[in-house]
This record gives sequence, C-alpha cells and structure tokens, in this order.
Amino acid sequence: MNKKKIKVFSAIQPSGSLTIGNYISVLRHWKKMQKKYQCIFCIADLHSLTSLHKEDNFLRKKSILDTLAIYLACGVNPKKSIIFVQSSVHEHSSLNWILNCHTYYNELIRMTQFKNKIFHVTEKINTGLFNYPTLMAADILLYQTDKVHVGRDQKQHIELTRNIATRFNSRYGKIFKIPELLIYNLGSKIMSLMDPRKKMSKSDLNKKNVIFLLENSKEILKKIKCSITDSDVPPKISFDSIYKPGISNLLEILSALVGKSIHELEQHFIKKSYSDLKKEVYHSVDMHISKIQKKFFIYRKDKDFLKKIFLQGTNKASKIAKKNLKKVYKSLGLF
Ligand code: TRP
Repeated sequence: MNKKKIKVFSAIQPSGSLTIGNYISVLRHWKKMQKKYQCIFCIADLHSLTSLHKEDNFLRKKSILDTLAIYLACGVNPKKSIIFVQSSVHEHSSLNWILNCHTYYNELIRMTQFKNKIFHVTEKINTGLFNYPTLMAADILLYQTDKVHVGRDQKQHIELTRNIATRFNSRYGKIFKIPELLIYNLGSKIMSLMDPRKKMSKSDLNKKNVIFLLENSKEILKKIKCSITDSDVPPKISFDSIYKPGISNLLEILSALVGKSIHELEQHFIKKSYSDLKKEVYHSVDMHISKIQKKFFIYRKDKDFLKKIFLQGTNKASKIAKKNLKKVYKSLGLF
C-alpha cells in the first residue's frame, strides 16, 4: 500500500497545559510521521469534560487554542495533516452512542485507567469517565484508521477499540478497519518527578511532579533538581525501573531528547553523580522547550490564523466522518 495512504490517528486532551511527557511520548514524533503517513491529529475536548470543574470552562477555549499552537510549534503542518477539534465534528458523539451499545459493562470496568481514576478521585464519578474508552473508539473508527499513535498508558484502550470493531464487523459485515497500535517504545511513558512510579500527568495536583511545555527555564531547573532519585551508595546511574524508578525516568527523558541509547548514557555516566545526570537532563529539556516556546508564542498571537486552521480541519474531518457514519447507520438499519 502507498505509505501516504496509511492513515494514522492521534489525539491529546486539552486539559491544562501539555507536559514534557506528552511531548516525549507522542508529540515529538508527529513532525516525522507526516512524511510517512496521512495523519489526523485531533484535540480531544469532549474527553476533557470527564474531569469537569466549573472553573475549567472559562479556560477551555484558551486551552484548545494553546494545544493547537503547541501542535504547530512541534512541527504539525496543516497542509499535510488534518487538525481538528473533536467537538466540532458531531459524528464522534453519534458513533460513541452506537459503540456504547456494542461494548460490555464488564469490558469497561476492567480498564486500568478507569480503576485508577475512581480510586484517586474524591468527587462523584461521572459516567463519562466510565465511557471514556468508547469515545476513543469512536474517534479512531470514524476515520477507518490504520494505526493509532498513543503513549503506553493508552494501550489497553486501543485493544478495546479493536475488540469493539471486530465484534461490530462480525455482526454487521466489514464496516470498520481494525486499527493497529503505534507506540514508539522509548519514552512512551514518562513518570512523575517526585513519584516516579506514577505517570506524569498534566492534571496532577502536585505541580512539582510535572514539567509543562510552557513553563519557564528557572522553574524547570528547580523541578529537575528536586526530582526523586535514590540513596544508593555509591550512586549508580543505570536503568532499572523497579529498583531505581527515579534514575530510570531521568535516563529515559534524556535518551529520548538527545537521541542516545540508554546503554550509551549508562556508559557516559559511569562514576558521575546524580546531579551530573540532572544537569544534562535540564539542558536537554530546556533546549527542546525553549525551541517549542519560541514558535508557540508566534502562532498563539494569531488567533484568526488558528481559527482558520480549525475550520479547514473540521471540513476535511467532517467529510470522512459523515461518509463512515452513514455506512454504520446503514448497517444498523437507521435512516
Ligand atoms: N485519551 C487519550 C490521552 O489521554 C487522548 C485521546 C482521545 C486519543 N481520543 C483518542 C488518543 C483517540 C488516540 C486515539 O492520551
């Protein structure tokens, strides 16, 4: 098959600001992916409603525009790829409902992300959180996606999507393409700085855990300096995610950003201290982030330009979505 014909779908939630974890696991690959694939990049604003705080609504438009400007700053090109906001293509919600009716309660209740969320969330659990993976399935299946690009934490959701699609096809004929998982292993799950057994998350209440892409250099330095390592004597800079999760996380960040293998870095850091490691991590993070920020602020100033990109993206995405939803409706005997 012509490589360009291979469709890749990816999305990020616009809740809060994006992090170095989003960048390393997903965003940094998008620029190159556009050369190889027909890419569809979505801003998953409907997903962001699952963690609804009233005050977020005032910030939502801003977060969406910030996210688009970050996509562009990371090299996403609207001439090559489709970029759009999920809520502006209504077919996502329609297909979501249909897929809900083909997904089992037992499947959703097994989702690790849901189980973790309900364990940590203190407020009431909304059913959007429960149905979150079927909305993801709708996002993906609506475009007859060949490959879904995600971080490692989303792997289970993609497996579920494949199961739902296979089930649907076995009932009604070949309606959906069964999407494959696309994960770039190195850096596909960046952990919290102070609690490296937990994923770095933009919604973390402890901001010391997270490096934001729009954060200033001084703040980043402070956070990296404070990050948890271990008390091995003598200090040992080697990768071992069970016994040395903090050091392993820093090595993984550095490896992804400088393009050297973990093994090379371990050799390089023999007899060096944890603060040497942190210094190099800081420099590489700062270099990437300042490059992104420079471009970000230029794009972010031009709201009309950003809105035009959305409009074009919505038009292109809608065309594909409408056609595929029609096929689904027909298979179900809907008008
Ligand atoms: N849930 C994904 C995340 O938090 C974002 C997302 C929404 C997504 N819909 C998607 C990713 C569809 C891939 C495909 O990272």
